[in-house]
Amino acid sequence: MSSNDSDTRMVSGMRPTGRLHLGQYHGVLKNWVQLQHEYECFFFVADWHALTTAYEDTEDVEKHIFDMVVDWLAAGLNPGSATLFIQSRVPEHAELHLLLSMVTPLAWLERVPTYKDQIQKLKDKDLATYGFLGYPLLQAADILIYRAGHVPVGADQVAHVELTREVARRFNHVFGREPDFEAQAEAAVKKMGKKAARLYNECRRAYVEQGDSEALERARALLASQQNLSIGDSERLFGYLEGGGRIILPEPQAIINEAAKVPGLDGEKMSKSYGNTISLREEPEVVEEKVRTMMTDPARVRRNDPGEPGNCPVFALHELYATDDLKKWVVEGCRSASIGCIDCKKPLIDAINAEQAQMRTRAQPFEDEPDLVHAVLQEGAEKARDVARETLEDVRAAVGLSGR
Ligand code: TRP
Ligand code: SF4
Repeated sequence: MSSNDSDTRMVSGMRPTGRLHLGQYHGVLKNWVQLQHEYECFFFVADWHALTTAYEDTEDVEKHIFDMVVDWLAAGLNPGSATLFIQSRVPEHAELHLLLSMVTPLAWLERVPTYKDQIQKLKDKDLATYGFLGYPLLQAADILIYRAGHVPVGADQVAHVELTREVARRFNHVFGREPDFEAQAEAAVKKMGKKAARLYNECRRAYVEQGDSEALERARALLASQQNLSIGDSERLFGYLEGGGRIILPEPQAIINEAAKVPGLDGEKMSKSYGNTISLREEPEVVEEKVRTMMTDPARVRRNDPGEPGNCPVFALHELYATDDLKKWVVEGCRSASIGCIDCKKPLIDAINAEQAQMRTRAQPFEDEPDLVHAVLQEGAEKARDVARETLEDVRAAVGLSGR
């Protein structure tokens, strides 16, 4: 394991909202299912983040966690591919949060756009708490504790990843300079073996003395290919290249989810608070009833009135489910009034139910045996802790609290 892992490592979290709906599936979860095959993924339930706003009623949190994780598994997240766990079962997040708080200016947190927005929006709650102000810093700890290079998030979370980058930079700046940094770096160079060491030194000199950025790239590639450097040495050598200190916490990149447009039954954005959702693993009759009564293009009052699929939320769902041929049939049939809305909705109902049948099948064993879910989460937490502890050891040492 080395710092280069951050290139392939990904972390993301979801607050425990309970059963998920199609908006969350197409907007976020489907993406995670894809990413688990391409990256080393850490996906967690952000239960502490839920507490920042819901600290007064925590009664349902555990049930919400369970229901959401079953939906994750139903959607195809595979504990063999991705590490799935609950944030609060990995207390290392909290220790890193605390240590990051030492070097995070209050003003950075106060100017995060979601901070004032949310306080405005959630007027019925008293959010003048430290926990709420610290929300994005806790998120920074969630990401940095895994030294993840990538964070898939919605556009609303980009400011949080940006803050994470700033905090990492500041942390590295304040704590990355060990007193014997040069000596340690020189020793690490030697550990690469003669040939690689010579190449590294040449490139480093060319960059430091002549600003040769190609040499910098060559040296980085060389480091990336070194299999047997420890994380600490690797970070040291990356930092040494640029003359600075050690990069203890690498800066992550946001991968912005192009939010799929999923309208709810009333044509507004699908959202639990609007009560216009179709859940994952809904009963087939319920899906049928919901889609049958779903809003359509308001211009089609009577069966003979032509409609415009572009103005119809049903068609927006077809966009997610239908083949090109079927879409063509809808567009032509709707505009010419040769099909009715009931005809149009039928194949959509079938497509949603086919998808959900598969999800129900995957969920069944977990619903029958809830302990299976707990085992997945327990194992995930252990795997996550192994990585988190390693980071934390470096962090503690950098801060000067290694306990040795
Ligand atoms: N704040 C995120 C949201 O509301 C959830 C979250 C918590 C998260 N920690 C994270 C997302 C770390 C990505 C990485 O959606
Ligand atoms: Fe919407 Fe289909 Fe009816 Fe056209 S035919 S208005 S696309 S439901």
